[in-house]
Amino acid sequence: MATSSTGNSPIVAQPGLDWKVEVEAKPLRIYLKQRALEGEPFLRKVLAHIESHPLFVHPFFGAFSEGRLNLDQVRLWAKQRLFSSQRFPCFLAAFVSHIEEDVDLRAAYVKQIYEEHGNLDPPKVHSRQLTRLILALGVSRDELCREQMLAGTKRFVDTYMRVSREGDLLKCMGMYALGSEPVIAMEMVLCLRGLQTISWLKSEDMIYFTDHAYHDYRHTAELTDVLLPFLRSDADRERAWKGIVEIIDARKALYDGVAERIGL
Ligand SMILES: [Fe+2]
Repeated sequence: MATSSTGNSPIVAQPGLDWKVEVEAKPLRIYLKQRALEGEPFLRKVLAHIESHPLFVHPFFGAFSEGRLNLDQVRLWAKQRLFSSQRFPCFLAAFVSHIEEDVDLRAAYVKQIYEEHGNLDPPKVHSRQLTRLILALGVSRDELCREQMLAGTKRFVDTYMRVSREGDLLKCMGMYALGSEPVIAMEMVLCLRGLQTISWLKSEDMIYFTDHAYHDYRHTAELTDVLLPFLRSDADRERAWKGIVEIIDARKALYDGVAERIGL
């Protein structure tokens, strides 16, 4: 199995790997089954939207999972992905600032911020876990500091912050509960398939991805439990739907930008 720790040669070849197998939104499917909500029309529509979204068959994931990216291309992706990870607690905090009366709703999102911060254990702050991977990939701290957001990355983080600041609680809850948690779990699985083609990475280097792929099952359930009582009318569901659609499209924009920059 050929490996490389230098810039431009492909890292490893895994011919025949079916990277599209994880297109199923397992966290949401499991949630619907556990809550006996499989027939609920709005949630079925969300599930169908997620599972048919081009994000999950993005050429980036195909190339990454099949070991067709060189190390510089993987580094570029990881550095761009860090921008949203670093800011995710800020997005949540912006949303929390709009939850003025419902303390139970606020508590669900404060818990998300707490977990993003590694339950206040400094080395476990999620963005630090991703930084660990980036350094393991051979990026220096200086290079990381100099990295600039690509346009697609900027659209992604700006969408999170804009929706979080809009003050539309239903749209924002839709964005986080259904447009983010099950989607992130799926994204993490596809990222892991790529990272696992780099034979010299240690499991500790990939903990950002393994942790999210696991925890976001629970996050999907916790945040969707909080969202559903708010969805009392078609107008309510339409507001949540907008948040779901906008953020998944914006996540794809990040991958479009990375793919363009690395020449896919
Ligand atoms: Fe999560």
